[in-house]
Amino acid sequence: MFSLEGRSALVTGAGNGIGAAVARAFATAGAAVVVTDVDKDAAGSVADSIVAAGGRAVSAVVDVRDAAQAHEAAVMAADLTGGRLHVVVNNAGAIAPAMFAKMTHEQFQRVLDIHLGGTFTVSQAALPFLAEDGTGRIINVTSAAGLVGTIGQVNYAAAKAGIVGLTKSLAKELARRRITVNALAPLAATAMTENIRTNDKLAEMTLARIPLGRWADADEIAGAFVFFASDAASYVTGQVLAVDGGTVI
Ligand SMILES: NC(=O)c1ccc[n+]([C@@H]2O[C@H](COP(=O)([O-])OP(=O)(O)OC[C@H]3O[C@@H](n4cnc5c(N)ncnc54)[C@H](O)[C@@H]3O)[C@@H](O)[C@H]2O)c1
Repeated sequence: MFSLEGRSALVTGAGNGIGAAVARAFATAGAAVVVTDVDKDAAGSVADSIVAAGGRAVSAVVDVRDAAQAHEAAVMAADLTGGRLHVVVNNAGAIAPAMFAKMTHEQFQRVLDIHLGGTFTVSQAALPFLAEDGTGRIINVTSAAGLVGTIGQVNYAAAKAGIVGLTKSLAKELARRRITVNALAPLAATAMTENIRTNDKLAEMTLARIPLGRWADADEIAGAFVFFASDAASYVTGQVLAVDGGTVI
């Protein structure tokens, strides 16, 4: 039920953190994975480590704002499984925090472009290749910030809230093609959260808001992506699953 044998997957931002963990988990579940990232070396080393562990993976440079690069990666992924692509994970992300009064329009736009624009661009590039036999999946990544708001990142919260709207609308649009579209709201100890975790005051405040009282390792998040990608979630679409130790309850 959770096997991804015979499926291909394209994961964005998979050179580090949660994306890398998802790429590894998909390969362990049997998928052939195109590990993409704007950072060529990071994507290459994740793909190499998957192959060294006996899995199927190749890497590609994809800046999620670049439709041509996304198209090439979708072709690569489809070629791994006879012309059809099965799973797209829109995971790539970057932050540019600032209090609202001081945030520049460039900071605001950049984060919107990567998270929300990137999710749009990569999903649209992949769509012509996505399987329409009930195995096609788009899995987006939102955040607690997009669900309940946050301080110092209106750009990121707006982008992540936008991804929720995009996910629900796309789920309705693509249902006729038997493609499901879901989103995850993770929380994990990655480079993106390093500033919080290494600042004593912020770390304490954040931990106080996590009922399970600890940060997850990225590998702990990956199983929920395998669920959404697999036959186990064939009747689940338009949903947002928080994998965050209970932060958003
Ligand atoms: N870590 C958390 O607690 C947390 C919480 C909520 C949401 N998220 C979301 O999870 C996703 C993964 O975050 P992470 O914590 O693994 O971060 P990370 O910084 O470890 O990894 C992000 C990856 O995205 C890549 N990237 C950045 N800009 C890109 C672009 N324009 N095109 C392609 N790749 C690009 C980076 O090179 C990096 O490999 C992001 O969407 C993030 O917003 C993370």
